[in-house]
Amino acid sequence: MDQLIVALDVDTADEARALANTLRGSVGAFKIGSRLFTSHGPAFVEELARRGDRVFLDLKFHDIPNTVAGAIAAATRLGVWMVNVHAGGGLDMMRAARQAADEEAARMMSSPPLVIAVTVLTSFTEAGLAATGVTSAVPDHVRRLALLTQESGLDGVVASPQEIQLIREACDPRFQIVTPGIRGASDVKGDQHRTASAAGALGSGANYIVVGRPIIAAADPRAAAEKIAAECRTGA
Ligand code: C5P
Repeated sequence: MDQLIVALDVDTADEARALANTLRGSVGAFKIGSRLFTSHGPAFVEELARRGDRVFLDLKFHDIPNTVAGAIAAATRLGVWMVNVHAGGGLDMMRAARQAADEEAARMMSSPPLVIAVTVLTSFTEAGLAATGVTSAVPDHVRRLALLTQESGLDGVVASPQEIQLIREACDPRFQIVTPGIRGASDVKGDQHRTASAAGALGSGANYIVVGRPIIAAADPRAAAEKIAAECRTGA
């Protein structure tokens, strides 16, 4: 299923490669986050991209515009399909990210990656956000950052299941929403609190869903991915 992004949250390239080999053809993309990237760097990203896999490089860049532009250009050279920044980095930083992706892709005569932004991390509570000096309610802050992301020309945001609807209402229909926190009725929630089923998230307006442990920790990851895809087709 094209809209299903699997988080390769493992420690070694061997484990990640084995998962990718098992899941290729059943899922739409592989997400490589800071855990695997910090152990194995860009080589594994390039390996998957070269063999034609769509790779979402989830490193959530947040720095001054010039530094983020350089990082986004480097991600574009790796051939990633999607990459992200923190919307809290501000308008200038996000514009610099957009420009870097577009210019680097043009130089390579390829398409730019989708560049999306994290609004408020799903691990934040209202009190945790207030402690950072942000006194808005979480949904208001998410809306504000989603609109800022749209204004910068980025392609969309990462959003929890609870935020899909408010972003759909506030932003352009072409704005992309990527949603983690996907759990079926029988799945272990782990550290995810604000969850929805895959079909529920897509039904609320997410363009892509990110699933980690319910697939990669399953006894049969491919069967788990195909079950989620089947539930999405039937809207279960
Ligand atoms: O195992 P699980 O399905 O909870 O994995 C979700 C993935 O999405 C993890 O890689 C996690 O880091 C990522 N993610 C998240 N919440 C966010 C952004 C990313 O769960 N707000």
